[in-house]
Amino acid sequence: MSFLIGIDLGTSGVKTVLFDEAGKPVASSTVEYPLYQPNLGWAEQDPEEWWKGTCESINNVMLKSGVDKREVKGIGLSGQMHGAVLLDKDDKVLRNAIIWCDQRSAAECDEITDLIGRERLIEITANPALTGFTASKIMWVKNNEPQIFEKIAKILLPKDYIRFRLTGEYATEVSDASGMQLMNIAKREWSIEVLDKLGLSTSMLGKMYESQEVTGKVTSSAADQTGLNAGTIVVGGGGDQAAGAVGNGIVKSGIVSSTIGTSGVVFAYTDKLTIDPLGRVHTFCHAVPNTYHVMGVTQGAGLSLKWFRDNFCMEEMMTSELSDIDVYKLLDAEAETIKPCSDGLVYLPYLMGERTPHLDPNAKGVFFGLTAKHTKPHFIRSIMEGVTFSLRDCLEIIKGMGVDVSEVRASGGGGKSGIWRQMQADVFGTNINRIRSDEGPALGVAILAGVGAGIYDSVPQACEEVIKVKDTLAPVEDRIKKYDDFYKLYTKLYKSLKDDFNQLSTILK
Ligand code: XUL
Repeated sequence: MSFLIGIDLGTSGVKTVLFDEAGKPVASSTVEYPLYQPNLGWAEQDPEEWWKGTCESINNVMLKSGVDKREVKGIGLSGQMHGAVLLDKDDKVLRNAIIWCDQRSAAECDEITDLIGRERLIEITANPALTGFTASKIMWVKNNEPQIFEKIAKILLPKDYIRFRLTGEYATEVSDASGMQLMNIAKREWSIEVLDKLGLSTSMLGKMYESQEVTGKVTSSAADQTGLNAGTIVVGGGGDQAAGAVGNGIVKSGIVSSTIGTSGVVFAYTDKLTIDPLGRVHTFCHAVPNTYHVMGVTQGAGLSLKWFRDNFCMEEMMTSELSDIDVYKLLDAEAETIKPCSDGLVYLPYLMGERTPHLDPNAKGVFFGLTAKHTKPHFIRSIMEGVTFSLRDCLEIIKGMGVDVSEVRASGGGGKSGIWRQMQADVFGTNINRIRSDEGPALGVAILAGVGAGIYDSVPQACEEVIKVKDTLAPVEDRIKKYDDFYKLYTKLYKSLKDDFNQLSTILK
């Protein structure tokens, strides 16, 4: 029997899942680690904590499953995208990683745009300069911590740091590397032009692979720390979104995914490079050779509900602990007691600025329409609705680019919630499907590992075999119009508040 491992290095924790050849999960383990926010809008993590968590979670699944480590035929790595892990010449981590949701690099985005030119930048990297992407984070270090910048020997993405600890190789793959903004997306290689202009070089970056290619093998030291067999192959894998898309079967035209994790993403496959000239959605290489994808990203999706849970739901957290019912199920039940449109309470989910559609690091979260009638359950429902509206923003742009959207598949933590899936059906006005597996990125990279190990012929063939639709929710007719009107008001609010967000950011500086 052959087994495959998928590792997903997320923002709140790392999840390792062991799958059998049919893509059935055999054992799974998640280990959490902290997020550090030393300043307003900053977000950092310690790569050593990622590595410790990864070792612990791999050891856990090997122990739990009782599988012989020699039967594990391949490992795939997925993870939070865009983070900058900086290593010195002795492979020591120079500072905490600046991660995807960090918003400190607005000035560096302007600098990058000036150095390369907005049009040329979009032509090469398929995207405008964004605070979320790695390039502006590196430039921030260059401008603000020159003593660290001059010691940088290697720049790795979060999951590629784990690859380095597992295999000793400095390597990456096209889907995650696309989000560094240092790549020529059409050619699927590093862009010398961009690197030159930013004062960087290819020697600072990992070797580029397609996502299904073998990038190295587990070293004996990593084998000791993880419980894996030395020599097990590690394939390229994918950024969490591309990997999640493979795990959802988004490997052909027409099927789009809507994922609510910490961030929220609407993801569509394209076989040709398709760029939004306004840069509101990202165009990246997909984890399927020679294909691409477009995705709209809302920064604070699950993050919004988690923020509310952590700050205002102590009672629910205690009940959850005592009853062993997932706290999010309790929040779902509270939201169910409120009618669609939350009696007029509108939430803008811009707790970490926003990417799609505003590209605005200064945007802030808002509750609008508050009255004395509103209660905690209203806030919970309103947060879910605001996040869903922001996913609709993404979907509208993707449709407007001429991308075929005939099926929407819900996934991520939010996709497990029945009320949130129904809300997506009602707000998008489409059927929402759910597939049988909810392992998303971990399954996606296990599939890529299976292709690398020769178990499957190709990614689409593996998806055809492994991924099946489990259920479908249809929109409720009389909610579509009401939500449409509410959505129009939602989109108006950002426009009304844009200048005020900027003013607030200036005051806070
Ligand atoms: C995608 C993105 C998020 C992060 C964290 O562009 O920023 O998906 O990878 O999940």
